[in-house]
Amino acid sequence: MVRVYLHEVTKIFGKNVVALDKVELEVKSGEFMVVMGPSGHGKTTLLRVVAGLEEPTDGEVWIGDNLVASPKKGVFVPPKDRNVGMVFQNWALYPHMKVFDNIAFPLRIKKLPKDEIEKKVKEIAEVLGIAETLDRYPRQLSGGQQQRVAIARALVKEPQVLLMDEPFSNLDARIRVTARAFVKDIQRKLGITTILVTHDPADALTLADRIAVLRRGVIQQIGLPNEIYDRPANVFVANFIGDINLFEGSIVGKGNEMYFDGGDVKLQLPSNIQGIANSQNVILGIRPEDIVLTKEAQLSNNDLAYVGKGIVEISEFAGGKFNVMVKLQNTEIKVVSSTSFSLGDAVNIYFRTSKIKIFDKQSENIIYG
Ligand SMILES: Nc1ncnc2c1ncn2[C@@H]1O[C@H](COP(=O)(O)OP(=O)(O)O)[C@@H](O)[C@H]1O
Ligand SMILES: [Mg+2]
Repeated sequence: MVRVYLHEVTKIFGKNVVALDKVELEVKSGEFMVVMGPSGHGKTTLLRVVAGLEEPTDGEVWIGDNLVASPKKGVFVPPKDRNVGMVFQNWALYPHMKVFDNIAFPLRIKKLPKDEIEKKVKEIAEVLGIAETLDRYPRQLSGGQQQRVAIARALVKEPQVLLMDEPFSNLDARIRVTARAFVKDIQRKLGITTILVTHDPADALTLADRIAVLRRGVIQQIGLPNEIYDRPANVFVANFIGDINLFEGSIVGKGNEMYFDGGDVKLQLPSNIQGIANSQNVILGIRPEDIVLTKEAQLSNNDLAYVGKGIVEISEFAGGKFNVMVKLQNTEIKVVSSTSFSLGDAVNIYFRTSKIKIFDKQSENIIYG
């Protein structure tokens, strides 16, 4: 397998639509990279630039040792010579062709002999568990099967790189979990270098070896799923990858006695805290599962900072856990709790200090966490 390397890739549509802005991204050989970002932030463009369906405005694209695009050096390798398989967002199956012919299509373009085409189509259909559907039309398949056909068509040429554009967005929530497991399994089995783009953090967290977060065409952070989740580079990443409570406030005190003062939300910060200064304006972030509520007990634990006494406003069962909303004076705090509470319960609120994240108010970049 090969690595894919985008070096300072910029793509501008028309005069000033900057879809990709100096994207620096290295996907290692055999790696599963998930690029995550909101709609309209450059994900599809990034895949199309790798596939050769778009020419970058600036920068370089490498596939293995081959420079495949560089406007400065006058290099542009067309899609058919890049050995890349792409699964499009809408799957783009040909409705009037049977599954067999849909999968065979890229091989027919390559003018492979008939018996070889038949062998390869049957092999990949076997791997993807759709061998019994080869004689049907796409409309006669379930969504999950149609997706497998689209993946089979991308893989039948034995590409060195697999690109997938929001492959689960057309699937029911129910089968998405199975489809994810399936894609992960195939990717691992084939060891194929893969870039999948999605707006859904659940895709990223479950599938990725590493995640790259894209905002308005700019890479915000690249890291392991748990790094992105636990130590997001900025407020945008923190918010996008999962639920988080954010409180604006300022730092009070110094040395071993530092506090966060956000009006309703006040707490003592860990004594080892660094990188923040007295009176600095900050945003404090804490994920719902990193908050502990107790009805009576006063907990005393180095990792728990007491925040105050709140009132339970909502407590919903969410399968093995409870989504709780607590009101602390005028501030609502989201909590994921393993125990249930009743509406109106008065509860002590503690933040897990090891999980607190502090962002600079101005830049919104992380300064502690
Ligand atoms: N062919 C095109 N012509 C003009 N603008 C485009 C074209 N393709 C994409 N864009 C613009 O580029 C930006 C990124 O689009 P896209 O890569 O499709 O985002 P995503 O896949 O993250 O939703 C958007 O502002 C979009 O409108
Ligand atoms: Mg898109």
